Formats: sequence, C-alpha cells, structure tokens
Amino acid sequence: MNRQTWNPQQYQENASFVAELGSSVLNLLNPQPNESILDLGCGEGTLTEKIASVTKDVMGIDASPSMVQATLEKGLNAVVMSAESMTYKNTFDAVFSNAALHWMRDYDSVIKGVFTSLKPKGRFVGEFGGHGNIATLIEAMETVVSQNKNMGQFTNPWFFPKADEYKSYLENNGFCVIDMSLIPRPTPLKAGVKEWLKIFANHIVSGMPTEMEKIFLSQTEQLLKPILYTEKDGWVADYVRLRFHAVKKL
Ligand code: BEZ
Repeated sequence: MNRQTWNPQQYQENASFVAELGSSVLNLLNPQPNESILDLGCGEGTLTEKIASVTKDVMGIDASPSMVQATLEKGLNAVVMSAESMTYKNTFDAVFSNAALHWMRDYDSVIKGVFTSLKPKGRFVGEFGGHGNIATLIEAMETVVSQNKNMGQFTNPWFFPKADEYKSYLENNGFCVIDMSLIPRPTPLKAGVKEWLKIFANHIVSGMPTEMEKIFLSQTEQLLKPILYTEKDGWVADYVRLRFHAVKKL
C-alpha cells in the first residue's frame, strides 16, 4: 500500500468543500487579534488564511511538502512537520485543526505534542472524522479490493474515534474538555465519488497500474451508487464529524 500524497491544485478544484464546511469549527475557535495560533494539518492554507485575517501570529504545519508550499504561496507562515513529532513548547494560545486529525493514528503523541505546545489555559479546538465516518465508502473499497486479488489488501489509514473515547484521551493528557460532539454531516461530493477516491484514497489508487485504477474506481462507484447517489442531490458522502473544544488545565 502506498503513502497518501496530496496535489494542492486538485484539492483546491475538487475538495474545496473541506474548508468551506469548516466555518462552524472556525467560529468555535473564535480567534482574537493578539493571539498566537497554530493550524495543525493546515493543508493548502484556506482556513489558515481566514484565521490570519483576524490574528497576526498564525503558523501552519502539515506533513505534506506540496500543501505547505501552497500555504506559503498565500503569504502565510507554514512548515513541513508531522504533528506526531512537534517540538513547540508553551508557544500558542490556541491550536486549531480541521479535517486532519483522522490521518494521525498515533493520536496520543499528537495530543501530548499539542498540550506541550500550548500556553497554560490555551485551547485545542478542532473537528475531524468521528466514529462511523465514511463507513459506506470504506465498506465499498474493502469489498472491491477483496474481490480483485491482484489489488492486494485494503488497509484503513484513518482514525475515527467515538466521542467518549477522544474525550478520555484528551483528559488523560491534562485537558479539560468543554465540548465534544459527534455530528452526522452528509456531505455533497460535487465532483463525484471517483474524484473523491482519487484525492482521499490516493494511498490506494496511486500504486495501481492505470487499468487496475479504472476498475477500482468504476467498481467502487457502482457499489456506492444505490446508497450514496440520487438524481435530486447527486453524490452525498456519509461524513460524521467529531467537533471539540478543550483547554489545557495548567
Ligand atoms: C474526512 O472526514 O474529512 C475524511 C476522512 C477520510 C478521508 C477523507 C476525508
């Protein structure tokens, strides 16, 4: 199985909904002008830019060099860094994260790094995929890979915890949890499910020869069509968000 890679242009064209739907969590962050804020998993910087329109001191980190480059090209501060090995200490008033934490299976290292990076009473505010997120999409991908022996094995790279699980992880690491909500959010995929798969299941398709990729995409689409597609609404994915607001106790 290959590593997930990101193409900022493709992301901007066909996945702009990720940042557009991030406005609720941005409201929950409620950035203030004199704060210092870290955008963890900043991607191509769309929400980093929104935070920077209010707050002068904003830093983005992302493990993808191409996404960090796209953020830098917007005139923002960003560095290539994995959230599991952050080295900031007592630096930020708030750490923000949208649609990124589900890619980080070593959640405990991430939470510890966020805690250390925050000033006392600093807040950790974010949203990511929660329990049940894209369950239908995952089941279809698994089925297609298992029915085509030459496709190898499907590995699930995502971490979609239950609300009480993530609350405990935060509390065990010294956070006081102010809010933790699991929110089903059916999400329209305007570019269709094949484009979604090419962007977000890129770790599966990028290693496939062209013909096999076509088969994977069309068989997965065929399985999903009766469940996720209607004439009236087009493709709508079964997203579930875990939205939280936690405060560093010390
Ligand atoms: C999401 O919930 O934002 C998501 C999860 C896995 C792949 C793509 C997106």
